[in-house]
Amino acid sequence: MGEKGYFGPYGGRYVPEVLGRAIEEIEEAFEAACTDRAFQDELALLQRDFIGRPTPLLYAENSSRLLGGADIYIKMEGLAHTGAHKINNALGQALLAKRMGKTRVIAETGAGQHGLATAAACAKLGLSCTIYMGAVDVDRQQPNVATMELFGAQVVPVYAGSQTLKDAINEAFRDWAASFADTFYIIGSALGPAPYPDMVRTFQSVIGKEVKEQLASRGLEPEALVACVGGGSNAIGFFSPYLEAEKPRLIGVEAGGRGTSLGDHAARMTGEGARTGIVHGYKSRFLLTEEGQVAPTHSISAGLDYPGIGPQLAALGRSGRLEFRRASDEEALEALTFFARHEGVVFALESAHAGAVAINLARSLPKGKVVVVNMSGRGDKDLFITAPYFRPAAWAAFLERELAALRAHPSGIAPPPSSGTGLENARGVAHSTTSKLISSPTSREVHHG
Ligand SMILES: Cc1ncc(COP(=O)(O)O)c(C=O)c1O
Repeated sequence: MGEKGYFGPYGGRYVPEVLGRAIEEIEEAFEAACTDRAFQDELALLQRDFIGRPTPLLYAENSSRLLGGADIYIKMEGLAHTGAHKINNALGQALLAKRMGKTRVIAETGAGQHGLATAAACAKLGLSCTIYMGAVDVDRQQPNVATMELFGAQVVPVYAGSQTLKDAINEAFRDWAASFADTFYIIGSALGPAPYPDMVRTFQSVIGKEVKEQLASRGLEPEALVACVGGGSNAIGFFSPYLEAEKPRLIGVEAGGRGTSLGDHAARMTGEGARTGIVHGYKSRFLLTEEGQVAPTHSISAGLDYPGIGPQLAALGRSGRLEFRRASDEEALEALTFFARHEGVVFALESAHAGAVAINLARSLPKGKVVVVNMSGRGDKDLFITAPYFRPAAWAAFLERELAALRAHPSGIAPPPSSGTGLENARGVAHSTTSKLISSPTSREVHHG
């Protein structure tokens, strides 16, 4: 890294004056926490007992045999609590917020994984939590919204602009400018004004450290590491112990979406319309229109559908240490099916992009070489996107039945079996059993409130 906060030509801190002091305060607290034994011990304990670390490194034996080339290993980050690597960073920053005496946390979320992780970390650490989310994302990610609310977070829909992640980030910055005295902004990827890219990489580097140890304990030397790149937090954390070395090959996979025209992909390093710009407080590569406006993007996976890329990854791409590839929506779905069928593992759609490139790479390399792919999250969160693709008619029928049942009983609780008929009756039996189990007044309030 060159000038403080920069990675080659990228990075920096481009924020309104009012936020300058708030960010300096975070930088000081973060630097102190990095060398504070008590903070590190508390984080390590929570990583073990709350997140469930270390996550396993799985030998994809069947897949490797079928592909006939290199051996594929899968870092099972999706087994972390809340289902994705996002929790590593959310928990680290939430613990830092607490150490700084902040009582409130705000965050932005697109797909909902970062919001979910932040809401869970805040519930665990006793911090109040507000999540900004584009109204379009709120509509399409209802399961994550429901869980965030269950964790006690307030989810605020943002109606500005395209009503997606970039608009949610703008709104979070607006809130923070007025609230930083008691509020900490947890950014969800390795981007934003310095020191966020450093801080997020540090909290995510636990992934790479574990992989290095897990490979060494099996006497393996990796040929290549492959990770998907949205903002870049799972990739930079995974790659972090190897950045200064010449090997292994480090491969970042961007969303190739449905085509190569601007608006049809989210490839900031390899795509048409990718240029240098300053957005959301940092300088990096962004997808921009001819007029310099942030361009629309597309990916089947909401977590890769962001117009910018973390500054350190952009710099590593420019220097050649990091190779960039892209995988299309279709290739991601194929990779998801491949690992599900042969390994019993369902990748998140984001990670499936990395899976697609790992499959091609393994095929092209000789036996005995090792390719490690980061399964940054697991795919149950994507069921509402993938199920219509794989089994449209059965999924539509299921949703229609659920909707009919919900319309009949909007609170989700059916009356006793005697007063219902048919389908309602069947649901009534199930729910009346549940409500007998949940008999405390608090639970009743929750159910009817
Ligand atoms: C499972 C998963 N993987 C990857 C990403 C992309 O983010 P990043 O590039 O910061 O790892 C997301 C973002 O929501 C995600 O949920």
